[in-house]
Amino acid sequence: MGKSGQIAYLNGDFIPIEKAQISPQDRGFLFGDGVYEVIPVYSKRLFTFEPHLKRLKNSLAATGIMNPLDDDGWRKLLQKLVDMHPWPDQFIYLQVTRGVQMQRDHLPADNLTPTLYAYTNELKPVSDDIQIHGIKAVTLDDLRWQHCDIKAITLLPNILMKMTAKQQGADDAILIDRDGFVTEGTSNNVFIVRDGQLQTPPQSTALLSGITRQVILELAEQHNMPFSETPLTLPDLQAADEIWLTSSTKYALPVTQLNGQPVGNGQPGQAAKNATTL
Ligand code: PDD
Repeated sequence: MGKSGQIAYLNGDFIPIEKAQISPQDRGFLFGDGVYEVIPVYSKRLFTFEPHLKRLKNSLAATGIMNPLDDDGWRKLLQKLVDMHPWPDQFIYLQVTRGVQMQRDHLPADNLTPTLYAYTNELKPVSDDIQIHGIKAVTLDDLRWQHCDIKAITLLPNILMKMTAKQQGADDAILIDRDGFVTEGTSNNVFIVRDGQLQTPPQSTALLSGITRQVILELAEQHNMPFSETPLTLPDLQAADEIWLTSSTKYALPVTQLNGQPVGNGQPGQAAKNATTL
């Protein structure tokens, strides 16, 4: 066991995370040629494993990267990783890259062996400060490409946009595409609440089909909260009573300030509180 006590899975072996090593010739390292997933774990049980696996398989199929495991293999591997760690609530990061290639070529060689890496972290609750005060967001032009539905490891635009948000004194950015439509956050989906109705942009190649997004829509249906998947613009955000940013690691973060202006009454809304305690 290494210093942190954390165990990682790399290409067939469970090893102390400090010992995990890959070749610098890995196409993930050189080209960002890979896909990933982040899966939440509650009370040591994988939460929404099936939809995450389905999305992983979609990302692998869309990029032509070989799926290294069958469904049962994935479940057993990830559950074993979870069981090796003490925390009841965790989030698993897993990544599959196209593999190691010695000759530089943008075109991948045939029959590469994918590199599979997975590790787990403690999933900590969102801080009291954020639950009480919410977060600040700014809107930014979406700098990304036309396949944001693929969960690709190539996150440089997301990183740059988050850095810009930080420079502007905000915690995150809500991204607006060239046609003026809201896509998502830098690592989350966007919801608004307006006159008691929950709204989120429809699924498309302009955004990641978030699993948390889907869970929230299902909960809204079960609890008879009106909702719609509908294109949103900056004026829609400005007129919202509540804005949320949703993801597997933060669930539903209330945005209480947008571009320096209060959202609704400037406090996390009742709908966000309801959603978080469901
Ligand atoms: N990000 N959109 C983007 C661009 C994301 O990166 C994420 C998740 C989401 C929300 O998806 P989900 O509800 O399935 O977590 C939407 C993860 C958490 C990350 O990159 O760490």
